Amino acid sequence: MNDITAAQYLHPPYLNGKAKGLLIDGQWVPSVSGKTFATTNPATGEEIATLAEADAVDVDRAVAAARRAFDGPWRKTKPFERQALLLKLADLVEQHFDELALIDTLDMGGPITRTRAAKRRAVGLLRFYAGLATSVHGETIENSIPGEVFSYTLKEPVGVVGAIIPWNGPLGLAIWKIAPALAMGCTIVLKPAEQASLSPLRLAELVMEAGFPPGVVNVVTGFGPAGAALAAHPGVDKVAFTGSTETGQAIIRASAGNIKRLSLELGGKSPDIVFADADLDAAVPGAAMAVFSNTGQICSAGTRLFVERKIYEEFTHRVAEYGKTLKVGNGIDPGTQIGPVISSGQLDRVLGYLEAGQREGAKALSGGQRLSGGDYDKGYFVPPTVFAGVNDQMTIAREEIFGPVISALPFDDMDDLVKRANDTPFGLGSGVWTRDVGKAHRMAGAIRAGTVWVNCYQMMDPAVPFGGYKMSGYGRESGVEHVHEFLNTKAVFIKNS
Ligand code: NAI
Ligand code: MG
Repeated sequence: MNDITAAQYLHPPYLNGKAKGLLIDGQWVPSVSGKTFATTNPATGEEIATLAEADAVDVDRAVAAARRAFDGPWRKTKPFERQALLLKLADLVEQHFDELALIDTLDMGGPITRTRAAKRRAVGLLRFYAGLATSVHGETIENSIPGEVFSYTLKEPVGVVGAIIPWNGPLGLAIWKIAPALAMGCTIVLKPAEQASLSPLRLAELVMEAGFPPGVVNVVTGFGPAGAALAAHPGVDKVAFTGSTETGQAIIRASAGNIKRLSLELGGKSPDIVFADADLDAAVPGAAMAVFSNTGQICSAGTRLFVERKIYEEFTHRVAEYGKTLKVGNGIDPGTQIGPVISSGQLDRVLGYLEAGQREGAKALSGGQRLSGGDYDKGYFVPPTVFAGVNDQMTIAREEIFGPVISALPFDDMDDLVKRANDTPFGLGSGVWTRDVGKAHRMAGAIRAGTVWVNCYQMMDPAVPFGGYKMSGYGRESGVEHVHEFLNTKAVFIKNS
């Protein structure tokens, strides 16, 4: 702990009992309706803060502010100025990271060791996009038009961005939307998830402290209808969304009115494949944490664990045993490895899948039901669960559960394995565990997914693109191609007369 004291650790100053406002045009304001809602700590069920509930009219005001800022001073800023502001924001986020991590632990349940370890990535993302602010540009292009005609391209910001994020990584996801938009000269209206808006709100305070002009970043807290208003708004030029596939489909429909640019990072049911020749001592914790990290609430979690039949029994048993060693509890305890799921609704959803698995004939080698007794009864706790005896048709092998649940499937033959691994509407992540480089290459080419991790899982880097195939969405985040999602290309021809 460097920027917060032990007392503040238990009672963070940001959770001071005052209702949080919406950030519109640089001002913290209540919603027009005056409506508010509470956010809870999923480890205890306690309400920890009151937030303003935005409606369409608040979204209108935020979009108008973003438009004024885009047409006004922000459009005239030079790349160096945007870079300096983003670097200042990175410094502020670094300086206040313990507080931001603590807020996420309290609001969404992530273990404090995990939310604090996210510092390198959060600060790294801001500095990466700060760098790109000065290094992305158009081209001069030699053409074949008779006469002397010079042609070049300009890269221009798309305009006002509506960003809608889920609750499973509130701070990191907010940064992943805000930083590339600002680096490229766009302005933004961010709609955080209703379950975990506090760290995006605190981040927005730091945005203002860093010196971004009013209206460049606006934040509207609220429920689905606020997101839907943003997705349909004629004043929004682009929507960047992370969340469920169903909501992604609604956003595509809503975007049709003004043909918005979209980037969508949606659900997954990713295959994680273990060959018998793998380093099993590495693959056991690797395959376990590919799902159990963040209590399974990661879009690219490796939830379909394909294991070569000759090691299936031993391997699934070892993964289940590993899961049993993980300490499940309140994320505020530094010893906790697995926190609660986000809400009572999510708890019911995950428990529904645990029941469906057992009903359809799968066998829970570990976990399988809600944790209860003592402090567990107050929160939403599900233990790491490994299902064996799963087949490809079972509900738990097909649908995104978003909880700490592995469905382990045996395989024999590589061609058959490839077909089965790809037999899903999703295509986000995938894992391959093998010592055979030939198999690794073959699988890397054959799997239809945006990322293949070999002998590791869930590695991410600001410079490496991330995104989906198929119903996991389109557009890439991170990497240089990410910022092109926020740019229009304009061609200019100049004829020498
Ligand atoms: P969601 O996708 O509905 O919510 C994500 C964000 O979209 C939130 O900010 C929400 O307020 C907003 N939203 C909701 N309806 C909207 C609409 N019609 N138009 C625009 N924005 C809208 O996901 P939710 O309800 O939190 O979770 C439901 C399930 O979705 C989870 O159980 C999980 O299985 C899956 N999910 C997957 C995620 C992923 O990254 N793959 C992230 C979150 C949820
Ligand atoms: Mg909460």
